Amino acid sequence: MQQLAEVKDQARGAWALGDYDAMMRQERLHGVGERLVDRLRVAPGETVLDVACGTGNAALPAARAGAQVTGLDLSPEMLERARAHAEADGLEVDWREGDAERLPFDDASFDVVTSTFGCMFAPRHEVAAEELARVLRPGGRLGVCSWAPDGVFGEFFRIVGAHLPPDPEFVDPPPLWGDEAHVRGLFEGTGLSIELEREHWDIRHDSPEAAVECYTTTLGPVVGARQLTEAQGRWPALADDLRGLFERWDASDRPTVDLAAEYLLVLGRKA
Ligand SMILES: C[S@@+](CC[C@H](N)C(=O)[O-])C[C@H]1O[C@@H](n2cnc3c(N)ncnc32)[C@H](O)[C@@H]1O
Repeated sequence: MQQLAEVKDQARGAWALGDYDAMMRQERLHGVGERLVDRLRVAPGETVLDVACGTGNAALPAARAGAQVTGLDLSPEMLERARAHAEADGLEVDWREGDAERLPFDDASFDVVTSTFGCMFAPRHEVAAEELARVLRPGGRLGVCSWAPDGVFGEFFRIVGAHLPPDPEFVDPPPLWGDEAHVRGLFEGTGLSIELEREHWDIRHDSPEAAVECYTTTLGPVVGARQLTEAQGRWPALADDLRGLFERWDASDRPTVDLAAEYLLVLGRKA
């Protein structure tokens, strides 16, 4: 399908923009990957696949735990950064360019499959979920973290999307991966039994303006949205909506913006 290939090309281009690692540092988001690897009790020698691994959020702690890790991502730029982190930390990871909807691995290849805020960005959720389940061996464990649609980042992505041309109909909105009923439906008939938990990650920015500046200069697709709306003279409206969002979700009475960003944790086990 030509439209599908275009969506993937666009995504590859979008995730090459900005400075994802700078956002990770600001949010200390590496903690989510570490938390997930602990929760899955990744053990030395186990085979782990981190899907849509980005710069290595879950892949690196899994390698640190002694697992044989493969990190797969659509974006060569993300993988380049991931490779540099692994080298700096003396960790061995097999980094692969690829698509979450078409994993280049045989059935039942991995003991553990992870994805932190990753597979939620593949356009066809059902296809990605089937792929995650397919490559797990019987008894294998799955761990997926996705921003909740009723949390700050669910609303964040809805706001950004509302300022952009609509996606083709077959594209599922990313935060739906954080919706309990949707996710239960995705894994029906895949041979995986799943448990769902809500978690949150505390994130601080100096001010609502700093939060807007952070995401619109570091997070690839949002950097793209800023560039497009700037070119069309519509950026101030998007910036205003995002500033309003961070003011509404700020849980502190300090000048800082303190967010308790909710995500859905999917824990699965293959029969
Ligand atoms: C928000 S980042 C998350 C990266 C990393 N897992 C983390 O927790 O920091 C989303 C990642 O999904 C990747 N991605 C988007 N669509 C993808 C697809 N169809 N297949 C594989 N990776 C994809 C992007 O390139 C990007 O690295």
